[in-house]
Amino acid sequence: MKKFLFPLILLFGSLLWAQNGGPNIQNSTEPNIVHQPLSLLSDFTIDQDDFVNQCIAMVEENNIANTIITLENYGTRFHSKPSGVQASHDIKDWWQDLADTYERNDITVEAFNHSFSNQISVILTIPGNESPDEIVIIGGHLDSGDFWLQDNAPGADDNASGIATLTETLRVLLANDFQPKKTVQIMAYAAEEIGLNGSADIAQTYKNQSKNVLGVLQFDLTNYKGSDFDIALNNDAQYTSSELNLFLIDLLEHYNASGEHPISYDFSKCNYACSDHASWAQKGYKAAFPMESAFEDANPNIHTPNDTFAAMNNDASHSVKFVKLALEFVIETAKTIQLNTTEVNAPQLQVTVNQNKLLYKIDHFDSPLKSIVLIDTNGKRVLLTEQPDNQGEISMTGFPAGAYIAVFKAENGKSFSKKFLLR
Ligand code: BES
Ligand code: ZN
Repeated sequence: MKKFLFPLILLFGSLLWAQNGGPNIQNSTEPNIVHQPLSLLSDFTIDQDDFVNQCIAMVEENNIANTIITLENYGTRFHSKPSGVQASHDIKDWWQDLADTYERNDITVEAFNHSFSNQISVILTIPGNESPDEIVIIGGHLDSGDFWLQDNAPGADDNASGIATLTETLRVLLANDFQPKKTVQIMAYAAEEIGLNGSADIAQTYKNQSKNVLGVLQFDLTNYKGSDFDIALNNDAQYTSSELNLFLIDLLEHYNASGEHPISYDFSKCNYACSDHASWAQKGYKAAFPMESAFEDANPNIHTPNDTFAAMNNDASHSVKFVKLALEFVIETAKTIQLNTTEVNAPQLQVTVNQNKLLYKIDHFDSPLKSIVLIDTNGKRVLLTEQPDNQGEISMTGFPAGAYIAVFKAENGKSFSKKFLLR
């Protein structure tokens, strides 16, 4: 029985948990160092500041709340129940209505039919105008499940919240006339709760057709704040891409470290194939899964009749952060044609790696630095320097080869980050 592994795994999760802490900088050989980042790091860049900031300021909590309540009111969205089948078709209609509202004839909303269920998966496509064969995907499951009975599974958090996150992301993109260079697909997966079946079917089809998917982001559970930070990046090496996780760190540090849209984050793992990101990872695609809490702090109501919006205090503010992350991810991976106006005297961070040293320099910036943090691909903070100068060097001797992010935080709240590679 693969079904509902979650309660069992949770019992053992905390045992495994204790073994994952702490920096991992032992067993290293003297690193060789490259001067420029490898292509793997330059695949994911941040240069859409104006458009991203314009979009993330427009996220509306009320829309998210309404979608969660509407989905909860189906009673159950279990894949084999009539209301579960109906919900899947209705989500398709809502997304089509959004495309129609914004007069986007270029956007398609399609049913992906599965042999094993009458519930459909829904795939919305915003075709890229420059590299349409390159695809960026955000998704989440539309079905729900109850641990004992399948008739009373409101699934407000699991996973009406994910569908609401995707729907609000879509609305904001369309309200801002998003015209991506690469193709963006938004997916609502059928039948996740019986073993990731809908997403597995789609990922298999994409692999068979050799589709070029750059990255897949999963939204499953977004509205319950169980930990004292906002987002737990799932850094399970088996089912998530460390490269994508580093990019998410980069986005969160760039757009959400300070200012009007603060989002704090940490790291966690399910330690099993807990959601649809795993279906993509198993077919060799890069996937990531930003979670609403650490796994050990999971919403206790999921898979019960108590997974309601009321149990989350009729408040959708936690999901708002996931919409912002989804917008940042989609816009920065798919890119828009609009040019970014870079100020001549805007602060500029230069980072080079040479002779076991990380050399850095911040130009056009009058605030002193508060700290420099180095984060490795597992999301571990491997080094902290306090009160550094605005120009200097950090010894990397003894650090294992691999990709890192250096995060520079200034006393005035601003923050800068750069990825680099140690070989
Ligand atoms: N949303 C859960 C997975 C989850 C639970 C993620 C808690 C993070 C914290 C998902 O819908 C689910 O129930 N998955 C199943 C596994 C699947 C293979 C049937 C589970 O966890 O038992
Ligand atoms: Zn779920």
